[in-house]
Amino acid sequence: MKNSLIQKYNVPGPRYTSYPTVPYWNETDFSYDIWIETLKKSFAESNDSEGISLYIHLPFCESLCTFCGCNKRITKNHDVESPYIEAVLKEWALYCKILGEKPTIKEIHLGGGTPTFFSTKNLEDLINGILSHANKAKEHEFSFEGHPNNTTHAHLQKLYDLGFRRVSFGVQDYSAKVQKAIHREQPFHNVAKVTFWAREIGYTSIGHDIIFGLPFQEVEDVVDTIEKTKSLQPDRLAFYSYAHVPWIKGNGQRGFNDEDIPKDEQKRQLYETGKHLLYENDYHEIGMDHFALKTDSLFESFETGKLHRNFMGYSSSKTKLMIGLGVSSISDSWYSFAQNVKKIEDYYQILEWNKLPIFRGHLLTDEDLVIRKHILNLMCQFETSWSDKSTYFDEIPTVLNQLKEMENDGLLIFKNEGIQVTEAGKPFVRNICMAFDLLLKRKAPETALFSMTV
Ligand SMILES: C[S@@+](CC[C@H](N)C(=O)[O-])C[C@H]1O[C@@H](n2cnc3c(N)ncnc32)[C@H](O)[C@@H]1O
Ligand code: SF4
Repeated sequence: MKNSLIQKYNVPGPRYTSYPTVPYWNETDFSYDIWIETLKKSFAESNDSEGISLYIHLPFCESLCTFCGCNKRITKNHDVESPYIEAVLKEWALYCKILGEKPTIKEIHLGGGTPTFFSTKNLEDLINGILSHANKAKEHEFSFEGHPNNTTHAHLQKLYDLGFRRVSFGVQDYSAKVQKAIHREQPFHNVAKVTFWAREIGYTSIGHDIIFGLPFQEVEDVVDTIEKTKSLQPDRLAFYSYAHVPWIKGNGQRGFNDEDIPKDEQKRQLYETGKHLLYENDYHEIGMDHFALKTDSLFESFETGKLHRNFMGYSSSKTKLMIGLGVSSISDSWYSFAQNVKKIEDYYQILEWNKLPIFRGHLLTDEDLVIRKHILNLMCQFETSWSDKSTYFDEIPTVLNQLKEMENDGLLIFKNEGIQVTEAGKPFVRNICMAFDLLLKRKAPETALFSMTV
């Protein structure tokens, strides 16, 4: 990656877990009733064929990591567990009543916060409560995020017994100085232990999340982290660029200042070193920030064009309907998005009124649906094409001008009324998506909303 390219393309940009991105949702054309209507439509079109996905947000963590951009509530009080599980089950019961027919669940993802903050008993009650109103798809994919410091053998065994076969562990970086700065002490042997248990129990996909660009992180830290990671042979790796989002509240008391964060050339070196090592060790880039061994199902989905991306990240196959349960979760009916309230107290209050706790959303226009396809193609296959009617839109000529500049910079090549992202262009896939993002082009955000693209 050339330094000049970084200088040119390192701008604030969305991570495209949705299109339109949340700041561009048009709340005027959205309402509670529209959400219900599009939810039912999507359910009727997809439940019998592909089933639905559930994302369940479990927001509690015992200790604050000061780099974290997730929606979380820090507490050591475990009395919060049961009321929260009851509330999520109530939300699910409301959804089931609206849907009318028993849903078939293809995917469940427990994210957070820290799902393993909860006791095995509470997680069991949660999953059994969900499944008591639903059918499990034959080929279901259940996954969860585990914190290596508090995932127990019992958690792994219980969730396995409930049908979970995928787990991802937050690793970030093994260096003591980085861990101290981000307030996350996590020895290698904790990660090794949970990885070993998960494999022994029979999990078929074990993932590790690592981050480049953390405060005080140096090239040798990335090398050491990847060497240690390699020794545990996770099936997948997320190699995230540290998203510095200081405007997310609750990240106080951090052990670093803005000048301690590697930038530009320094950050580029961290990325290049990491990516090179991952390639050397047979991890293949299957999408933005994501790598997998050839034996992992995500790799096969990438190869066969089935890879999908939504608010849960990447998944092996597409479902039209994804319901997000829990505080701050986002649901996607394909035709519209809806987000739950972010404060736990508000979430409880609205459920008391027997209402879905959504507070905003977006109804996709015909134009949004076309652009969304291009962005998904780029994010999941590193290529897209506008050769047929369903993928053509009027602004293509303007987009082409911008793409030509990217072609000159070696980020992509044109082929058959479409583009393919080159190896050099992969780190800039967010910038390439931005060329298609008509909403962003029409109106630049007024305040800082997105992290830098590189
Ligand atoms: C919900 S956490 C994973 C589960 C558990 N809470 C843990 O920390 O182990 C999700 C992942 O998001 C990533 N993440 C969080 N904040 C980030 C940020 N600001 N920049 C990049 N990645 C971030 C981390 O890699 C983290 O492991
Ligand atoms: S990284 Fe994980 S454990 Fe740390 S604050 Fe964020 S969600 Fe909680």
